[in-house]
Amino acid sequence: MIRSRAFAVAARQCLRRASQQPRWVPGCSQVPCRSYAVAKQDQVAKFKGKTGSDGKYTVTLIEGDGIGPEISQSVKDIYSAANVPIKWEPVDVTPRLKDGKTVIPDEAIQSVRKNYVALKGPLATPIGKGHVSLNLTLRRTFNLFANVRPCKSIAGYKTPYDNVNLVLVRENTEGEYSGIEHVVVDGVVQSIKLITREASERVLRFAFQYAEGIGKPKVRVVHKATIMKMSDGLFLSTARDISKEFPNVQFDTELLDNACLKITTDPAPYSDKVLVMPNLYGDILSDMCAGLIGGLGLTPSGNIGDECSIFEAVHGSAPDIAGRGLANPTALLLSSIMMLQHMGLNHYADKIQNATFATLAEGKMLTGDLGGRAKTHEYADAIIRKLKV
Ligand SMILES: NC(=O)c1ccc[n+]([C@@H]2O[C@H](COP(=O)([O-])OP(=O)(O)OC[C@H]3O[C@@H](n4cnc5c(N)ncnc54)[C@H](O)[C@@H]3O)[C@@H](O)[C@H]2O)c1
Repeated sequence: MIRSRAFAVAARQCLRRASQQPRWVPGCSQVPCRSYAVAKQDQVAKFKGKTGSDGKYTVTLIEGDGIGPEISQSVKDIYSAANVPIKWEPVDVTPRLKDGKTVIPDEAIQSVRKNYVALKGPLATPIGKGHVSLNLTLRRTFNLFANVRPCKSIAGYKTPYDNVNLVLVRENTEGEYSGIEHVVVDGVVQSIKLITREASERVLRFAFQYAEGIGKPKVRVVHKATIMKMSDGLFLSTARDISKEFPNVQFDTELLDNACLKITTDPAPYSDKVLVMPNLYGDILSDMCAGLIGGLGLTPSGNIGDECSIFEAVHGSAPDIAGRGLANPTALLLSSIMMLQHMGLNHYADKIQNATFATLAEGKMLTGDLGGRAKTHEYADAIIRKLKV
């Protein structure tokens, strides 16, 4: 508690200074200093991997727990059939407790750092004292500052809307999830929402570049600066500054509550935008949007960092169906397609995506969660057959 108090004081000092200085760079030693100097024309989080002598990229594979190995196998089978120039490097990320902290094995860290990219299955969070979520640990270890969550209606799976085409970018490292909490007095606790210009800048710049990259003409910041005038206010003013670097992308803002109401009333007007927002809003809004297309089982994601990026399905390890061949690999497969796009392997991404959507649209070979009777491998085989069409 004493440590968190000290951190909170430091954070408050930083915030106070931020309000006094027009362009603030964190100067206090307790706040992790980050240097993400990005040249204006440079691409944030650009993939730096290179092919080996065999012409293939090596990609770290974290199969994960529960259904993780089954859905990873489907991805591997589909990639082999599609001749994707990728070699998988499987790593174990079973958490270790080191000095009371949850850490990831060094070999896994080195593998991701070397390959710059990883595909990750779901990880069960160990229940017990001392363990923090391994997903959070991965995000912190590799400084994965942006979480990208596309939500697109899938033909063949009926939901209340069939025209959803949303992309959310969530700030992944601070905001309400800075982890700075303390007891003020008995019965009163305080949680600090930390927003820095530096972290805001890089996620916003990424959102603009991402919008340009996928051909969306608009970026919209979702915020609550009417209430959190300083923290969301800083995010918003940073967005206005960054938007000037992107004259070809239209920029506007919307209050979070209004965005929720409008998206659930009619998601169509959001199809031309990338929505970008602080951590907590992104966490909630992205799951809400996943609900619009049929849930987490169909929703991919990418965690983007300066050096490395990790792509993952957002669902959990589904221990209730693990090992029974019932799992749906779609979310992991779609996450891997985002990974291929990040790596510039668009031809393979399109090929696998078309085969996947065609299989879903046909509706003959679906897993149980989508109302079908197919086993995991039968669904994967159906996608493989479509690759050859
Ligand atoms: N990103 C991650 O690694 C991640 C995310 C969420 C939860 N978890 C962890 O997963 C474990 C289980 O969590 P939970 O039960 O709350 O959520 P869960 O997502 O694992 O399961 C919720 C429900 O959805 C079903 N489901 C999930 N994915 C499916 C798939 N691909 N195909 C078919 N059905 C699927 C499950 O059978 C279950 O009925 C926990 O240890 C949790 O911490 C990990």
